[in-house]
Amino acid sequence: MMCRSLAKRKDGTSFSSFLGWLATHLTVKLGTHAQTAAHGVVLVNATNGGASVDALRSTNAADLKGKVLLDIANTLDFSKGMPPSLSISNTDSLTETIQQAFPALHVVKTLNTMNASLMVAPDLLPERTNVFMSGNEPTAKSKVKEVLHSFGWADADIIDLGDITTARGTEQFLPLWVRLYGALQSPMSNLGIVQGKP
Ligand SMILES: NC(=O)c1ccc[n+]([C@@H]2O[C@H](COP(=O)([O-])OP(=O)(O)OC[C@H]3O[C@@H](n4cnc5c(N)ncnc54)[C@H](OP(=O)(O)O)[C@@H]3O)[C@@H](O)[C@H]2O)c1
Repeated sequence: MMCRSLAKRKDGTSFSSFLGWLATHLTVKLGTHAQTAAHGVVLVNATNGGASVDALRSTNAADLKGKVLLDIANTLDFSKGMPPSLSISNTDSLTETIQQAFPALHVVKTLNTMNASLMVAPDLLPERTNVFMSGNEPTAKSKVKEVLHSFGWADADIIDLGDITTARGTEQFLPLWVRLYGALQSPMSNLGIVQGKP
């Protein structure tokens, strides 16, 4: 697990409670971006979307070669207040930006369309819902599927949207997600796709 806070954050209750969690999960180790990139087989980009490329630049390029990057990040920009806008949209996506900057990585976008609690526990909702995948490399997608299965997502829940450009669609779902959060007064909802006959 990577954490910039290790070096930079002075203190804070959320970080100390995270350290408490860490103390009870002894198999999870904390490291810098460079250390975790060197250690990990499947890397997870859970950094702020505006900082993702810089965070990856702080790793050693050789440690990224051929690795899968499971990208859950979004480009929500709160700098002009609420509601946030997207700092990358329409003809591009954060996932494509990362893939272009780090061609040796196999980037797969997934899980970014839901709250973090649901990402790892889809059973928290009363019905099955869907998770999406976008990426260019089929073997990387298979690896990401294994990770999704380990969180409780079934094959039938996973919709492979296609190549990496399809990440534009899931990233651009975020403005609606934010509005749903406001209307439902809860982040605990997710998309469930109902398909009719062709
Ligand atoms: N939270 C959710 O339920 C959820 C759901 C879907 C998608 N996502 C996506 O997941 C990502 C993380 O979300 P979040 O809720 O944790 O909030 P966030 O504020 O978007 O991201 C915080 C993370 O970004 C890191 N970060 C910020 N600036 C950085 C920099 N310049 N260099 C390196 N790392 C930097 C922070 O590191 P430090 O801790 O070291 O400051 C922290 O780990 C975001 O892209 C978000 O859109 C989150």
